[in-house]
Amino acid sequence: MDKGEGKRETVCVTGAAGFIGSRLVKNLLQKGYGVHATLRDPENPAKNSHLLSLPGAKERLHLFKADLLQHGSFDSAVEGCDFVINMATSTDFQGDIVQPTVDGTMNILRSCKKAKTVKRVIHTSSIAAACPLNEDGQLKEILDESCWTPVDYIKGRDVVYGMYSVSKTLAEQAALRFGAEEEIEVVTVLVGMVGGPWLTPTVPGSVSSILASLTENRLLYEVTCSSKDLFGSVPLVHVEDVCSAHIYLMEHPSAAGRYVCCSDPVTVADMLNFFRKRYPEIPLAFGNKEEEDEWKKVLVPISSKKLSDVGYSYKYHLEEILSDSIECAKQMKIL
Ligand SMILES: NC(=O)c1ccc[n+]([C@@H]2O[C@H](COP(=O)([O-])OP(=O)(O)OC[C@H]3O[C@@H](n4cnc5c(N)ncnc54)[C@H](OP(=O)(O)O)[C@@H]3O)[C@@H](O)[C@H]2O)c1
Repeated sequence: MDKGEGKRETVCVTGAAGFIGSRLVKNLLQKGYGVHATLRDPENPAKNSHLLSLPGAKERLHLFKADLLQHGSFDSAVEGCDFVINMATSTDFQGDIVQPTVDGTMNILRSCKKAKTVKRVIHTSSIAAACPLNEDGQLKEILDESCWTPVDYIKGRDVVYGMYSVSKTLAEQAALRFGAEEEIEVVTVLVGMVGGPWLTPTVPGSVSSILASLTENRLLYEVTCSSKDLFGSVPLVHVEDVCSAHIYLMEHPSAAGRYVCCSDPVTVADMLNFFRKRYPEIPLAFGNKEEEDEWKKVLVPISSKKLSDVGYSYKYHLEEILSDSIECAKQMKIL
């Protein structure tokens, strides 16, 4: 942002073409920041056109090619930046998702250290790195920043998105350790399941899970239901709140350490009831009274106290998270 002192601040966003990354780039440009966006394939119109068409992109957006798997790959994107927001994460669910995410995070942090201009790194982690489980798999009483996913428990079991949880946990721990050892400010954001409108040409994975009962996707519906066992709720948050919380934590010097970012822990029954009431014309493919009766209330509350203590307040809740997802799906003719 141009603070009126002649110098415009520049933010590097890794994984910038993705669901959250692209909305974050939009909001940073809107606020007047210069943006260095990293993509694996910056020449590909399917990956870059939703970024290049953003207001302010022509003047202040630069695309860089970078891959988590390549050492030194982020050096030129990070060079000269004031802040780095690390959204990139391995999405190779068929292969090894853990090592690329952990090594890639370290690659990015080493580029930050080398650049010497980076004031703070905001690392996008996940609620999946803070599963409120004891070592024996029992749910704790609250999900907050003190929770760390018990990696050994998860590794030994067939848990939905288990290795994703492991990857986010180990990458966040490595990022915080690197920050402490190398004296780089690293703030981590533990994001819930993200809904809301998207700029990407394809439907984001988390929105597909949120809308699965309407789109007849049994597998993803079961993924959403299974979040009860890992989190004690479906931990919803709106993409706009995720982006503005990232920017808020970047801009506020007092921010430090981990921050949970999840406005609405709900049950699947809460979601289905909302769909029934607000969109009676869209038939629900799944959900029955028996299932809904079994899980009537949130088992583990999620605390955003640390985020609100630093001054941030959520602007969106269940209704907007679901209806904005549906309206965008309607525009794309998916519903
Ligand atoms: N959506 C959610 O519900 C949710 C919840 C919690 C946390 N998060 C976190 O939020 C961040 C963004 O997620 P998202 O939902 O926006 O996912 P997304 O749309 O899949 O974006 C992920 C990004 O990571 C990049 N990426 C994947 N493999 C890479 C590699 N080897 N090298 C460099 N970049 C690579 C992709 O870049 P390309 O464009 O080059 O393919 C993509 O832009 C991730 O860190 C995710 O863990 C998301």
